[in-house]
Amino acid sequence: MKTAIYPGSFDPVTNGHMDIIQRASTMFDKLIVVVLINPLKSYSFSIPERVKLLSQATKGIKNIEIDSYDGLLADYFKKHDVDVIVKGLRATSDFEYEFQMAHTNKDLNPKAETVFIPATANTTFISSSMVKQVAMFGGDLSKYVPAVIHEEISRKLTREFAQKRKAAAEKRGEE
Ligand code: PNS
Repeated sequence: MKTAIYPGSFDPVTNGHMDIIQRASTMFDKLIVVVLINPLKSYSFSIPERVKLLSQATKGIKNIEIDSYDGLLADYFKKHDVDVIVKGLRATSDFEYEFQMAHTNKDLNPKAETVFIPATANTTFISSSMVKQVAMFGGDLSKYVPAVIHEEISRKLTREFAQKRKAAAEKRGEE
């Protein structure tokens, strides 16, 4: 039995992530999607929110488990019965960073091998940060995130942007 782990921030999960999740779930007996933290990033969704969105979006996939971990991916790999790390590659611009992470993870845990899955062509431009920008300015997200969570994501991001605008106006001394 081969188990793969698909790590990421998933802030929020997009159709680009779903492409990798769906394809990886057919390649391995079990796929664990793990919400991890990049301490250098700031997030819009809490970890429980991201786990919930992922669970809703992947409901139809039988061999999948959603988890979260506040620590190193290499340590998660050690603690669980995992065979391989799966990562999606959208473009050559992703490669350098992902290559560095793959090497770091293997250095921290020599058993942690990474395999890359090329993104399907029509998802290569989709990223969580692009989704956030579109949502914050009231754009239509329906083509970029799973339909079942589309409204929840739009609502949360629109609210976040309104709060940010209000705080910025208050800082400038307006009303
Ligand atoms: O979706 P992202 O933001 O590209 O995912 C990056 C993530 C969260 C998978 C990465 O930052 C991560 O693995 N974080 C956990 C800490 C860790 O193990 N970092 C890698 C060694 S520097």
